[in-house]
Amino acid sequence: MTPARAVLSGIGACVPSNTVTNADLSRHLDTSPEWITSRTGIEERHVVSGGESTVDLAVEAGTRALKSAGVAAVDAVVLATTSPERLCPAGAPEVAHRLGLGFVPAFDLTSACSGFVFGLGTSQGLIASGLARSVLLIGAEAFTTLVDPEDRGTAVIFGDGAGAVVLRAGTGAEPGAIGPVSLGTDGSRADLLHIPSGGSRQRAATGLGHELDKSSWYLQMAGRTLFQQAVARMTEASRSALDDAGWTVPMVDLFVGHQANLRILTAVAKRLEVPEERVFVNIDRVGNTLAASIPLALTAAAAQGELNTGDRVLLSAFGAGLSWGGTTLVWPDLAVESPL
Ligand code: COA
Repeated sequence: MTPARAVLSGIGACVPSNTVTNADLSRHLDTSPEWITSRTGIEERHVVSGGESTVDLAVEAGTRALKSAGVAAVDAVVLATTSPERLCPAGAPEVAHRLGLGFVPAFDLTSACSGFVFGLGTSQGLIASGLARSVLLIGAEAFTTLVDPEDRGTAVIFGDGAGAVVLRAGTGAEPGAIGPVSLGTDGSRADLLHIPSGGSRQRAATGLGHELDKSSWYLQMAGRTLFQQAVARMTEASRSALDDAGWTVPMVDLFVGHQANLRILTAVAKRLEVPEERVFVNIDRVGNTLAASIPLALTAAAAQGELNTGDRVLLSAFGAGLSWGGTTLVWPDLAVESPL
């Protein structure tokens, strides 16, 4: 018997209500709105405030995805995040509890900006193995809390938010069926984007007799090298996903890539020869939201009418790890609420 395939049956997303514009950042950082817009494509981002957390965002996006799918129960919850509220325990069980989903298996997955695509592969596996007949997959981040607000090289890039999908068991021939998922990592480049302390190797550099060591406490990023890696790996992941699905570039109606930098998206599209009008962009409104980026973009694209039933969609992502991944799907008929 052919194993069941994960089929997209609901989607929802949210961002914190607090908006931070480039002009806001330029008031306390040595930067300018023009620099940020021209080098990244970002105009504004949403940032958690008032104690809002990753789990709060995940619960809101999850609620909307369940409503979109018209279901009140799932067999498993996967939370892709690289900004968990705490090291232990995982946030997913709390999300499941707050959504009233009972004692279902629930776990976190840490693949930075590739988290949602890794989550699609994992959910596909849960469904194909028969371990679950339905999965709520959420990408949620409050990553701005891990970025040095005084570092102009990183503070201008990131935003917070969450996006969620409900995946159910179905067949590969149905609209919404997730295509073959292509994934990869390169652990030799882990230091290109990392947060040195806070884990088991190096605990927080605070406490008796210690000054807060900002360079180990906050995100460290080698922007220029990452940029080149992102273009190469997202292009590669896109090509693998297309090949595995038996698709060619002209068949793609919409390319929804991880929103890390508008110049990265443009460079990937150029290499793939995807025309500009088929590249979805919402980084201007949300910044880089890591694992939330792709489900937020998909929700926005569908809500804005840029993604319609029957459209062939190519997804690809790249992030810390390094990690990358891509897949394809034909957009199903879904009820979608705007995330903004
Ligand atoms: N405002 C003004 N100037 C800034 C700045 C800011 N916010 N941030 C950096 N600069 C300066 C740098 O100090 C540097 O100055 P110098 O030439 O005097 O040394 C200059 O701008 C160019 O820096 P560079 O890092 O080469 O800029 P860039 O064009 O590569 O853009 C990024 C920087 C971070 C926007 C870009 O490299 C990027 O997007 N990289 C990928 C990041 C990413 O995707 N991370 C997440 C992984 S998914």
